[in-house]
Amino acid sequence: MVPRHVISVDQFLDRSFLSSLFGRAALFEAQRKARKIECTLNGRVMVALFYEPSTRTRLSFETAMLLLGGSVVGTESASHFSSAAKGETMEDTIRVVGNFGDVIVIRHPEEGIAVRAASVSEKPIINAGDGIGEHPTQALLDLYTILKELGRIDGIHIALVGDLKHGRTIHSLAKLLSLYNVKLSLVAPNQLKLPEKYKEFLDKAGIIYSEHDSYEPILGSVDVLYVTRVQKERFADAAEYEKLKNAFVVTPAHLAKMKPNSIIMHPLPRVAEISNAVDNDRRAAYFRQTENGLYIRMALLEHVFLDRAGTPLAG
Ligand code: NCD
Repeated sequence: MVPRHVISVDQFLDRSFLSSLFGRAALFEAQRKARKIECTLNGRVMVALFYEPSTRTRLSFETAMLLLGGSVVGTESASHFSSAAKGETMEDTIRVVGNFGDVIVIRHPEEGIAVRAASVSEKPIINAGDGIGEHPTQALLDLYTILKELGRIDGIHIALVGDLKHGRTIHSLAKLLSLYNVKLSLVAPNQLKLPEKYKEFLDKAGIIYSEHDSYEPILGSVDVLYVTRVQKERFADAAEYEKLKNAFVVTPAHLAKMKPNSIIMHPLPRVAEISNAVDNDRRAAYFRQTENGLYIRMALLEHVFLDRAGTPLAG
């Protein structure tokens, strides 16, 4: 039997699937708040292999697995503390840890690593970020957040801001948004624009987008300002990073120009691109966004093991 991997959002380009996934996430949220979660993954083990830093993704996956009754093993600094440090290939590592775990969650600096891992794995592989490739589970929680916060996805104007070149959350989210009738503004310095392959994807899907080097002119019309960090670790030239790192900094003065029912999102970690002074405004949705990651990851873990139709959430 082919395991049910989670590699790219390409496999989730189906509104009815998303709607049932979001329905399960909402149910898990209610169960979590009532402290009544059915332990459907009892006896299953999740292996977390993280070759790059992570706080939210790893801890929310681990929490999700534990809440569903499963167990967790893993290495959070796999490039130093796993046998990768001795020269073991990813393929061999996957074959080995597949003997212990029932699902393997991987974060790694190399784009495409999750596909390689899946090609030799008898256990489901979940891509928790592959270099400058994709971050499908983050994009799913981002979309879920938009739906929860605004009550709809169709008809919104969303600005993707920051490092659109290296930001894997952006790459996955742009593709997922193409399922909906959205207006997209891509806001980045010239050096950090969205790569052609994602623009071609949007073109094929018939999404109307425009590119900008500043968000000032569009602040008054956006429903979602999705801000990202300039990805320092992807720069070969430190001086180039220094030049670009503060290309955008959202401050209360920007908030004042935004619609009262709009939201600001960020996958986090934030460095300087959103001032702390913005955090207490109701429109700052980034910490609520993080919490949603827990429920989406519970729904995804359930999805890789079990067939649950769920109650669709409109969107
Ligand atoms: C993001 C990532 O790892 O791509 N973080 C996350 O998982 N929430 C964003 C980032 O590191 O800037």
